[in-house]
Amino acid sequence: MNKDWKIETLAVQAGYTPENGGARVVPIAQSTTYKYDDAQSVADLFDLKREGFFYTRLANPTVDCFEKKVAAMEGGVAAVATSSGQSANALALLNIARAGDHIVAVSSLYGGTVSLFTNTFKKMGIEFSFVLPDASAEEIEKAIRPNTKAVFAEMLANPALVVLDVEKMAAVAHKHGLPLVVDNTFPTPYLCRPFEFGADIVTHSTTKYLDGHATSVGGIVVEKGGFDWGNGKFPELVEPDPSYHGTAYVRDFPACPYSVKLRVQWIRDLGNPMMPFNAFLTMMGCETLHVRMDRHCSNALELAKFLAAHPQVSWVNYPGLEGNPQYDMAKKYMPKGVSGVFCFGVKGGSKAGEKVMNALKLAAICVHVADLRTCVLHPASMTHRQLTEEELVAAGVSPDLIRVSVGLEHIEDLKADFDQALNA
Ligand SMILES: Cc1ncc(COP(=O)(O)O)c(C=O)c1O
Repeated sequence: MNKDWKIETLAVQAGYTPENGGARVVPIAQSTTYKYDDAQSVADLFDLKREGFFYTRLANPTVDCFEKKVAAMEGGVAAVATSSGQSANALALLNIARAGDHIVAVSSLYGGTVSLFTNTFKKMGIEFSFVLPDASAEEIEKAIRPNTKAVFAEMLANPALVVLDVEKMAAVAHKHGLPLVVDNTFPTPYLCRPFEFGADIVTHSTTKYLDGHATSVGGIVVEKGGFDWGNGKFPELVEPDPSYHGTAYVRDFPACPYSVKLRVQWIRDLGNPMMPFNAFLTMMGCETLHVRMDRHCSNALELAKFLAAHPQVSWVNYPGLEGNPQYDMAKKYMPKGVSGVFCFGVKGGSKAGEKVMNALKLAAICVHVADLRTCVLHPASMTHRQLTEEELVAAGVSPDLIRVSVGLEHIEDLKADFDQALNA
């Protein structure tokens, strides 16, 4: 692999290089375990003295290729694939925060992430402070405490579609010795690479555009490399780990200490890795990502324009639309497009919106987003249902908001479908 390859070439080629006479497409290693001729080889693997595979809960050859592909596409040094996007975000933070610690997060987030942070992490003794997406550097700094361990945000918030000012966020985090963790699910590395703007860790629900065909739930955590874990705030990365034979991650794995720790502690103990068949399918999705994303973006822009001009529509939020308050931020961080997702409201509010959703024929009502079939969803009654009214406002979810995930169908068929549903 050549590190200077463009994202399109990395999407197609990175992660797997066949040997002479080997399978051209990455093989699926559908095996829980691996055979060795002598006991010492296995002991060395357990001691992390050599690279290799011994049990698929920790690592698997197909999943390994997928991890290398996504790491290359994001421009990171290493990645760990997980069973879902939820586990990617959970492990990304558990890897650096423990009971008694605190994390600052931007409030416009996917509902499942809000629930993870405000319920489950709270029970585990990890506290969160939320800042508004347009918070000033001073306001974000005010939220940081001596026990803060990370700043977390979504690059393009689901479903509020707020574009993160990632440079500002990274500057504040770094001033306080903290890593910036960015969920890059909606943009994908094709539209935006947060590491280029200062992020330190990137997560994905690979269930979305990376798979792109709605076949496989999965997640991934990518490490940029180079963050100073030895700055005194992260002793667990520096001091010998008694649960792993005294391994000191920064000392023993200086290139990617965060990823090694995440795998050998958290994936080993909680047991939520990606499975090989899902890695295979998601890799196939990655290989066409750039082609699909261009069409998702152009279809979304055209459908958003069509709806913005429709007499039955009260508002449209798509950062790619000229005049949208996010337009300049979107152009700065995602010049190629702002994904295939946008939101709109129908005149008559959520009741009228529900009728429109029911009347759509091509676009389906699905609890999903970011795949090749157009679908719609009402977050307030579905994905964000567990949130309180206050949390809904903070997440940017109004009661009438309909989220559209624009697929790869012909744009004229999509326009006709929304038009007939709005006029019904
Ligand atoms: C931005 C974002 N992050 C994380 C998740 C959770 O991912 P998964 O459903 O793969 O667990 C989602 C799911 O919709 C999401 O949209």
